[in-house]
Amino acid sequence: MTTTPATPARERATDLKDSPSQERILVVDDDQNLLHLLKMRLLAMGFGVTTCTTGEDGIAEAQKEVFDLAITDLRLPGQDGLAVLEELLLINPALPVLVLTAHGSIPNAVEAMRKGAYGYLTKPFDVTELKVYIDKALTQQRMSREIQRLKSLVKELYGLENVVARSAKMQILLQQVAQVADTDTTVCITGETGTGKEVIARVVHCNSKRARGAFIAVNCGAIPDNLFESELFGHVRGAFTGAFGAKRGLFQSASGGTLFLDEIGEMPLPLQVKLLRAIQEREVREVGAEYSRKVDVRIITATNRDLSEAVKAGKFREDLYYRIQVVPLHVPPLRERRDDIPLLAQHFLEQSATRMTKRIRGFQRDAIQKLTVYSWPGNVRELENVIEKAVVMATQDLITADLMPALAQAGEGQFKPLTEAKEEFEQNYLRELVQLTGGNISRAAQMAGRYRADFYKLLKKYGLHPADSRLRQEAELEEEEGSEPTEE
Ligand SMILES: Nc1ncnc2c1ncn2[C@@H]1O[C@H](COP(=O)(O)OP(=O)(O)OP(=O)(O)O)[C@@H](O)[C@H]1O
Ligand SMILES: [Mg+2]
Repeated sequence: MTTTPATPARERATDLKDSPSQERILVVDDDQNLLHLLKMRLLAMGFGVTTCTTGEDGIAEAQKEVFDLAITDLRLPGQDGLAVLEELLLINPALPVLVLTAHGSIPNAVEAMRKGAYGYLTKPFDVTELKVYIDKALTQQRMSREIQRLKSLVKELYGLENVVARSAKMQILLQQVAQVADTDTTVCITGETGTGKEVIARVVHCNSKRARGAFIAVNCGAIPDNLFESELFGHVRGAFTGAFGAKRGLFQSASGGTLFLDEIGEMPLPLQVKLLRAIQEREVREVGAEYSRKVDVRIITATNRDLSEAVKAGKFREDLYYRIQVVPLHVPPLRERRDDIPLLAQHFLEQSATRMTKRIRGFQRDAIQKLTVYSWPGNVRELENVIEKAVVMATQDLITADLMPALAQAGEGQFKPLTEAKEEFEQNYLRELVQLTGGNISRAAQMAGRYRADFYKLLKKYGLHPADSRLRQEAELEEEEGSEPTEE
């Protein structure tokens, strides 16, 4: 030991930025020769390796990053191996720790096992033996991760079968989804509360090449401001009061999969800049960490707020807004796709009835009628709740109209003054037409049986100038071609 050349107490043997999913091993031993040998072997096995010659340094490293396995000598100068073991397990209770013991110190090894070591090896050990141990420990970890992943996968795929989308509007939306799903672009889903934004996010994920990875949903409105950063990016031990152990952030948990940032409009401003950086650079920095890590995550965001308004009000960063708007998807409110209502109602009826083990076949005619004329301010979620309540109350095998008392007065409120109703229809009609023609104004005007100039006037009346830049470009291109007189 005394003849070995001086080496730094700590060495990081791989570039963290290169491989976000590489398994990482921490090795603590004061025998530099052995340390070097282990490092070379482990690197050859394809692991990322951090080596330390003292227990104190080993613990410091474990506070900075999350390891998949640790190997520590029991006899160390300063803090001994048992104390290091205990400390490592405090930082990360799931960490498998292999201890190395000198020949003839079995009682120490027993003590280490009692304290939670994964296994022990008596020096001198051979590398094959070590490899067997490492493989076993990591396989166990991989398996529990795999089980988690499969569980979520089954849920996702099951969920996909349950998406009801009969209306033309939903069909158009699903076509758009099919176009973007397999790319890695950032998607922003807008729509009123309860319209099915999360459902659509899952459909995107399940139809992407990331379908086998995790789908992690975060409700940005539900995380307290002061915990936001560490939830998203993780933290190292001691990064702040109460940060007892190191913690993986949601970005890392979603690695290889999709991170769904729900209610993105609720994200506090200071964090928006960090999110922007994470999306742009594809790397995150844990709270308290000295370096950033690469992450391989697809971002989907959702909001029921008008983000452009939030930008104007200074509540949402403009640069982040443009970054997440790469592909906007809009989930229409239920009242604009009433032909989905009977199918959704039947779908929720079957779900609830199965759950409650009740034999209910369907709806009476007047019950369905009541459902289809109601305005559904709470959209699909409200429909789901109404059906569930009706199933609870039902005593016959068909749901009757009186089982939906909340919708009783709604019928009258439905009737607006004719002018207002006409304008509402006109606006929806135009919006759909523009969407359907992908912003091709000539075609839209033709389909509507109007001159382009008139059609533009109508769009202007409802503030419907194609907002999407792609649409605008097309519209402008056509302007230049100038096949028909236009007013602009
Ligand atoms: N097309 C659909 N087919 C079947 N179920 C649906 C559909 N759309 C929505 N749902 C159901 O309606 C409920 C609300 O959907 P979801 O949570 O996706 O809405 P949301 O737009 O994210 O709502 P919020 O704005 O409140 O977050 C869920 O229980 C979901 O399963
Ligand atoms: Mg939601």
